[in-house]
Amino acid sequence: MQAAIYTQTGTTDVLRIVERDPAEPGPGEVRVKVIRSAVNPTDWKSRSSSTLAFPEVVPNQDGSGIIDAVGDGVLDVKVGDRVWVILAAHQRPTGTAQEFTVLPADRVALLPDNASFDLGADLGVPAITAHRALTTSEDGPSRLAPEALAGRTVLVAGGAGAVGNAAIQLARWAGATVVATVSSEEKARLAAAAGAHEVINHRQGDLVERLRETAPGGFDIVVEVAPAVNLQADLEIIKPRGTIAIYANEGGDTVTLPVRSTFTTNARLQWILLYTVGQEALVNAVVDINRAVADGAFKVGQEHGLPLHHYALTDIAAAHQAVEDRVVGKVLLDVADPQSAVAAGS
Ligand SMILES: NC(=O)c1ccc[n+]([C@@H]2O[C@H](COP(=O)([O-])OP(=O)(O)OC[C@H]3O[C@@H](n4cnc5c(N)ncnc54)[C@H](OP(=O)(O)O)[C@@H]3O)[C@@H](O)[C@H]2O)c1
Repeated sequence: MQAAIYTQTGTTDVLRIVERDPAEPGPGEVRVKVIRSAVNPTDWKSRSSSTLAFPEVVPNQDGSGIIDAVGDGVLDVKVGDRVWVILAAHQRPTGTAQEFTVLPADRVALLPDNASFDLGADLGVPAITAHRALTTSEDGPSRLAPEALAGRTVLVAGGAGAVGNAAIQLARWAGATVVATVSSEEKARLAAAAGAHEVINHRQGDLVERLRETAPGGFDIVVEVAPAVNLQADLEIIKPRGTIAIYANEGGDTVTLPVRSTFTTNARLQWILLYTVGQEALVNAVVDINRAVADGAFKVGQEHGLPLHHYALTDIAAAHQAVEDRVVGKVLLDVADPQSAVAAGS
């Protein structure tokens, strides 16, 4: 099989395509025939970091495909099942940028029948992060479902990003009123297509004033991608006992907070890192996300606010570069034809 690897960290030049024998799944493991491998910012950040986690790394956390073999003791999935994968390369050397990947069985989830492999490859990092951001508030909810966020107002910063898109779709499905910020007209159209009730260009006018006009009562939850830029504004519009859920450091890595005016908000700053949320949060997110997908409330593509950019596995360097260059939408590697999964599963 073909696999993309790197044996030293650095620019996209370190990525190479090699031939490997597919690994056999051990006890409690499954082998997935990969159909789509998705590239997230975390994948290029790991590739270009100063530390090589394993002597040889197959990148990419997210993907979708079909179960091709199961090890002893695997009961929840069987050969032929369509699946999406969860944190494939976390603390493991082999991610989804290869034709077959072996994973612990608890790192795959069944893909609902109505979901494409393209959608399945977008569900891991972006949707689970968005689920976490929407479920850590003092006054709940701890799970997402229709009406779980009814009566709540959610602000999604960067609503045309992959996580932002997922946050808008999940919050809408759960019944929230959703406001998104973006930096351009093109991104405004995408955030609206994802389902945001109101979209504000954060580069035009006074952001706090415009957020107050849009939601005079304030926001229950802020899903924040750029705290160094936005936190002061967030603190001005958050409701008492509201949550500012911070999952990235876009726009700067340092935040300075005035203590008194911050504690008078009675709000919560919830820091998020997917790699350490714990198994229970991951499992709950997977169940709720799959329900949203099955309900037809979570989709991908330009018409749902997330343009897709397809690359061949052999073009992984260009795919990683596109994400590093902040392409708008989702970058996918077409590792196999979806029709091959139909044939294998039938
Ligand atoms: N903590 C975690 O576990 C976790 C999980 C997933 C992702 N992340 C991180 O989250 C970030 C986004 O990931 P992604 O996959 O969604 O990337 P993406 O699709 O490239 O989106 C990035 C978004 O950041 C937004 N942004 C940048 N500056 C902004 C500002 N001042 N105000 C509002 N939005 C701003 C951009 O929106 P505008 O151009 O419209 O402003 C853009 O849409 C990355 O840094 C990634 O590493 C962290």
